[in-house]
Amino acid sequence: EKGTYPHFMLKEIDEQPFVMRRIIQEYQDTDNNLKLDDAIRNAMTACDRIYIIAAGTSYHAGLVGKQFLEKMAGIPVEVHVASEFSYNMPLLSEKPLFVFISQSGETADSRSVLVKIKEMGYPALTITNVPGSTLSREADFTLNLYAGPEIAVASTKAYTAQIAVLAILAVDTARAKDLELAFDPLQELAIVANAMEALTDQKETIEELVRNNLGTTRNAFFIGRGSDYFVCLEGALKLKEISYIQAEGFAGGELKHGTIALIEEGTPVIALATQENVNYSIRSNVQEVVARGANDLIFSMKGLEQDTDAFVVPHVHELLTPLVSVVPMQLLAYYAALNRDCDVDKPRNLAKSVTVE
Ligand code: F6R
Repeated sequence: EKGTYPHFMLKEIDEQPFVMRRIIQEYQDTDNNLKLDDAIRNAMTACDRIYIIAAGTSYHAGLVGKQFLEKMAGIPVEVHVASEFSYNMPLLSEKPLFVFISQSGETADSRSVLVKIKEMGYPALTITNVPGSTLSREADFTLNLYAGPEIAVASTKAYTAQIAVLAILAVDTARAKDLELAFDPLQELAIVANAMEALTDQKETIEELVRNNLGTTRNAFFIGRGSDYFVCLEGALKLKEISYIQAEGFAGGELKHGTIALIEEGTPVIALATQENVNYSIRSNVQEVVARGANDLIFSMKGLEQDTDAFVVPHVHELLTPLVSVVPMQLLAYYAALNRDCDVDKPRNLAKSVTVE
């Protein structure tokens, strides 16, 4: 039920702080330690490489998750688009662990990879919002997202739940391997939940940004470096699928290698600048497009902001910034779609779960 909300998407965006808190609760034991099945922990510590398989938004969450697993748990990770995996199958390591990320647990492209790798005898873990789903039943292990039903076709709270659960998985594995921890996940996710709440309270600011900058535009670009880049891919996908504005997410440094040709007078370029180590370089990429007439909208993080930035998100741990920077991206897409009278919850040509290959 959407209650007083005009759309499920807006309700689901607003639910994100609660989902974070539910994940904290579900994954913590009575001593405030992480609670994960021993079987999953054993599979994580036994593997020599993780292959993440997913589609769409879940693939974008996988890209963020790779950072956690490599940086904290010290496991090499490859992230693959499910529909391509069979054709571009990489040379597998000796002891691979396959991790399927899927909100619905029913995506046919992902399932076909699961069937194949089970035939090959490899272990599989599914991270899903639907525990009884096909991908969950057919894998060896399941981690639940606890996001509650996601009704809007455009995925929002499942994406942030996937990232949070991947962070917990990475930290749990790091602990099992006696590695030094980058952060206390439960404490940092609580900070994220509060930051998300502050963001969902700023809808009017985003609505106004959309009105003033994305009103009549045909296209838009999203640029970022490091993990901001992954959020750019997600921001562009959200905008495309519900507002039909053509949008592309780009690595900040890659734009000048061709795509900059598309920048015209007034082209909106949304730049994410939440990472300290790339703050200078992403801002110079913004200067490059502004010099060609682009209309820049910089979304930065508290502590790294400048006066001319369009929007500043609250400060969170640098590995977890995608959880907060994606919220204004979701709202941007939502208001852009509203502005154009699009069917926000049921965009054309799309279905909630894609059960054909
Ligand atoms: C985008 C979106 C899709 C799904 C994709 C995978 O908003 O919803 O890109 O993320 O179809 O679906 P799941 O996660 O159910 O496997």
